[in-house]
Amino acid sequence: RVEPMIGPSILNADLSILRDECKNLLESGADYLHLDVMDGHFVPNLTFGHPVVKCLRSHIKDAFFDMHMMVDQPEKWIKDMHESGATQFTFHLEATQQPEECIRKIKETGMKVGLAIKPKTEVEDLLPFINDIDMALIMTVEPGKGGQSFMGDMMPKVKFLRDKFQYLNIEVDGGVGPANINVCADNGANMIVAGTSIIKSPNRSETISLLKKAVSD
Ligand code: DX5
Ligand code: ZN
Repeated sequence: RVEPMIGPSILNADLSILRDECKNLLESGADYLHLDVMDGHFVPNLTFGHPVVKCLRSHIKDAFFDMHMMVDQPEKWIKDMHESGATQFTFHLEATQQPEECIRKIKETGMKVGLAIKPKTEVEDLLPFINDIDMALIMTVEPGKGGQSFMGDMMPKVKFLRDKFQYLNIEVDGGVGPANINVCADNGANMIVAGTSIIKSPNRSETISLLKKAVSD
C-alpha cells in the first residue's frame, strides 16, 4: 500500500508571508508542502524559484518540499533546487525532450522524482518512465492558476495507473477539495494536493483532516 498524504499548494496563499503560511499549514496537519514553480513560458504565470525555496528551507528544517516545476527545460534547475533544499523534483513530461536524462540527474542529487502530465496528455505516455519515478502527478486542471474547477474526466488516468501499479505514488493536483476528494480516493490517488480549498478554508486543520480521512479509508 501507499501512504495517504495531504500536500497543500501555497499558490493562492498570501505569498508576502510565505514562511508563516507554510508553518501554519504544517501545524494544521499537512504531510508535505506542494510548491508551484512557474516560469511564464511553460505556463502563462510566474511565481518563484530556488532562491525562495532556499530561504523557506532555512526556516523549515525537515518538511517534505514537493517542487511542482511548471517550467520549460526543467533539467536546468535540478542542481539549484537540490542545493536549495527541495525534497522532490516534479517535472512535466511535456516540458523536456530528454525525460530519462532529467530523471537520472534528479536521482543523482538524491531528490525524489515526480513526473507530471497535463490534462491533454495521455496517461500511457508515462509508462516508459513509470519504474524510474517516485510519483506520477495527474493534473486535474490546466496548469498555471489556482482556484480552477476540478476536471473529473481525469480520474480514469488515476485508475489506469492504480490498477497497474499498486505501490506507485499517484498525486492529483488542481481544484481538489472536500467536494471531490472521494472520487480521487476511489480512483486510487494517495498524494492529494489542495490549494484554495485549504488556504481559503475557515478551519485549515479541519479541512486537512477531512481530506486525509477520505484517502485513508
Ligand atoms: C496549478 C497548480 C496547482 C494549484 C492547486 O497550476 O499546479 O498546485 O495551485 O490549487 P487549487 O487547489 O486552488 O487548484
Ligand atoms: Zn501544482
